[in-house]
Amino acid sequence: MAVTLKLLSTALLWLTCAVGVTLSATRCPSCGSTSVPYPLSTSPTCGDQSYKIRCDADSLVFDTLNNTYPIMSIDPSNQRLVIRPASFVPNTCVTTDLPFEGVQLNSSLPFNVTSSNTIMFLNCTDSILRSPLDCSSSGLCHQYVNQSSNATACEAAPICCTFIAGGGATAHAIRVRESGCRAYTSFVNLQSELPVNQWPQPGMELQWVSPPEPVCVTGSDCDGNSTCGPDPSSNGVQRCYCNSGLWWDPIQGICAENITCQNPDGCDGVDRTALIA
Ligand SMILES: *[C@@H]1O[C@H](CO)[C@@H](O)[C@H](O)[C@H]1NC(C)=O
Ligand SMILES: *[C@@H]1O[C@H](CO)[C@@H](O)[C@H](O)[C@H]1NC(C)=O
Ligand SMILES: *[C@@H]1O[C@H](CO)[C@@H](O)[C@H](O)[C@H]1NC(C)=O
Ligand SMILES: *[C@@H]1O[C@H](CO)[C@@H](O)[C@H](O)[C@H]1NC(C)=O
Ligand SMILES: *[C@@H]1O[C@H](CO)[C@@H](O)[C@H](O)[C@H]1NC(C)=O
Ligand SMILES: *[C@@H]1O[C@H](CO)[C@@H](O)[C@H](O)[C@H]1NC(C)=O
Ligand SMILES: *[C@@H]1O[C@H](CO)[C@@H](O)[C@H](O)[C@H]1NC(C)=O
Ligand SMILES: *[C@@H]1O[C@H](CO)[C@@H](O)[C@H](O)[C@H]1NC(C)=O
Repeated sequence: MAVTLKLLSTALLWLTCAVGVTLSATRCPSCGSTSVPYPLSTSPTCGDQSYKIRCDADSLVFDTLNNTYPIMSIDPSNQRLVIRPASFVPNTCVTTDLPFEGVQLNSSLPFNVTSSNTIMFLNCTDSILRSPLDCSSSGLCHQYVNQSSNATACEAAPICCTFIAGGGATAHAIRVRESGCRAYTSFVNLQSELPVNQWPQPGMELQWVSPPEPVCVTGSDCDGNSTCGPDPSSNGVQRCYCNSGLWWDPIQGICAENITCQNPDGCDGVDRTALIA
């Protein structure tokens, strides 16, 4: 079975080549009026296939394991995007994604929840009080519930908790469930000293890992600035490596002379511009 699948996928790759589709880094066309930066991919013929998002009726959306969230903004320079968290079921303190247990990212994919998110967990059972979260009565989530017209239903739910996302279990999941908290919201770069009516609109920021060079099967899959060669870290996979004097720019998705690397863990951790200078 596995062998058959492998043969089939190899055949598909060859087929793709035969019809002349280049596998080297190709930026996806805009979705409606929103540009789709590399490596994000809205189709099998553009972007990097590990970075799939969807263009749905001229709007970009992000699929989690069991649900879909609108993409509010994308910042390719720091490899981040912001999704709109689920809304409340009208007049309740329950978010619409409770049946899917909230935001659950596939941890095998290169996206995670950043530590720029302040998360409010609302309508919690008292089991949450054993957690290290801030569930105090003067906590930020109580201020939010008391002062925001968006969460008035939550005034009837006494237990809520606040925490800064990121790392550990929260790098890939902001989990709501019947036995825990039944609603949540999230704010990016929240300045908590501001009055609630000056808070930004809710959002949840995700970050993507720098993309590696694009996969290739033959040299013709790569553009004139790169050469197809074996990936030392992945058996049997070949990639378009940049020719000498050029470096892979994971933000532009090209081989360039000078790259502006803003990502601490991308660009092999080397400042190529300095190296050239
Ligand atoms: C809190 O969640 C429970 C369980 O889903 C729900 O029955 C209840 O209505 C919620 N509380 C409020 C105030 O909406
Ligand atoms: C998510 O989807 C998978 C497969 O579609 C299913 O097995 C699982 O129960 C779902 N989980 C939730 C929490 O909805
Ligand atoms: C998670 O992503 C990996 C890598 O693309 C994929 O093989 C796997 O099927 C995904 N898991 C689920 C539950 O969708
Ligand atoms: C929220 O309102 C309740 C009831 O009016 C009050 O007891 C509580 O101190 C308020 N909490 C905060 C953090 O503003
Ligand atoms: C998310 O992924 C980025 C890129 O790999 C990494 O630098 C960052 O530490 C991760 N953040 C969390 C909260 O895991
Ligand atoms: C409240 O809801 C409105 C309408 O959905 C939204 O524009 C606003 O940003 C929200 N504010 C907060 C603090 O949640
Ligand atoms: C190759 O690299 C040069 C120098 O960076 C650039 O001007 C040219 O556009 C690149 N060609 C392709 C096909 O990317
Ligand atoms: C690369 O940087 C050098 C020195 O800053 C500059 O002279 C050169 O024009 C740059 N090349 C490109 C393709 O931007």
